[in-house]
Amino acid sequence: MNLNIGCGPNGQIENFVNIDNSKAVLLAHCLLLKKILYKLRIINKQKYEAHWKGVRWMDASRCLPFRTESVSKIYTSHFLEHVPLEKGKLVLAECYRVLKNGGVIRLVLPDLLWHAKRYVTAVEKILNGDVEKYSSYAHDRFLNSIYGAYLKTVRYGLEHCYMYDVPTILCLLRKTGFTHIRVVAFREGEDSELGQYDNRPEDSLHVECWKNAYPIDTGKTSAK
Ligand SMILES: C[S@@+](CC[C@H](N)C(=O)[O-])C[C@H]1O[C@@H](n2cnc3c(N)ncnc32)[C@H](O)[C@@H]1O
Repeated sequence: MNLNIGCGPNGQIENFVNIDNSKAVLLAHCLLLKKILYKLRIINKQKYEAHWKGVRWMDASRCLPFRTESVSKIYTSHFLEHVPLEKGKLVLAECYRVLKNGGVIRLVLPDLLWHAKRYVTAVEKILNGDVEKYSSYAHDRFLNSIYGAYLKTVRYGLEHCYMYDVPTILCLLRKTGFTHIRVVAFREGEDSELGQYDNRPEDSLHVECWKNAYPIDTGKTSAK
């Protein structure tokens, strides 16, 4: 069994258990209600047309309902930052528990460093007079990207509750028990499959890690 955690709309992976806790997953089973909500303009066209077929509704910040060492691969992209740090640690511990020995998880996360650099560049442009008038746009965009859940009172899980950078996530993964950890590039990595599902090149960091051992066929033995 393979998992795709926080798959989002239209993000399902074939032959994976695709998980998301959006109410839209439940609404996808009630087509008439969905149509009424759209006609009443309670949901917009994008939400109306979003494709959630095959997605299993599940709050992944709680214990995962899978047996210990029953999962071969986990893919999760732009999900972990949607839960607070303490719950994020629980998610990683649960991923570790359900993975088989030699199983792999690929995490794709928005990178705090990328967002910080973008903020600094934008503010320096303003202060250098390169842009015509003062605006709080760069400031608001930065805060919203790292602190969105606290700035807006929207459904839990919609906005970012935390933001990782490479040192932080590597430290957490090690504390969780992962030993074979690699920072990899967009659509690259040692697992021949998972990288192909990446779809957010710009602001993301990508990490692959294995539980206890590399799969035998990679021939790798060293840990970073
Ligand atoms: C930014 S989207 C990412 C979608 C997709 N993986 C991608 O990379 O484009 C984050 C998704 O995580 C889901 N999510 C947030 N908190 C969750 C939770 N506790 N359990 C399961 N899914 C969650 C949201 O509903 C949303 O669909």
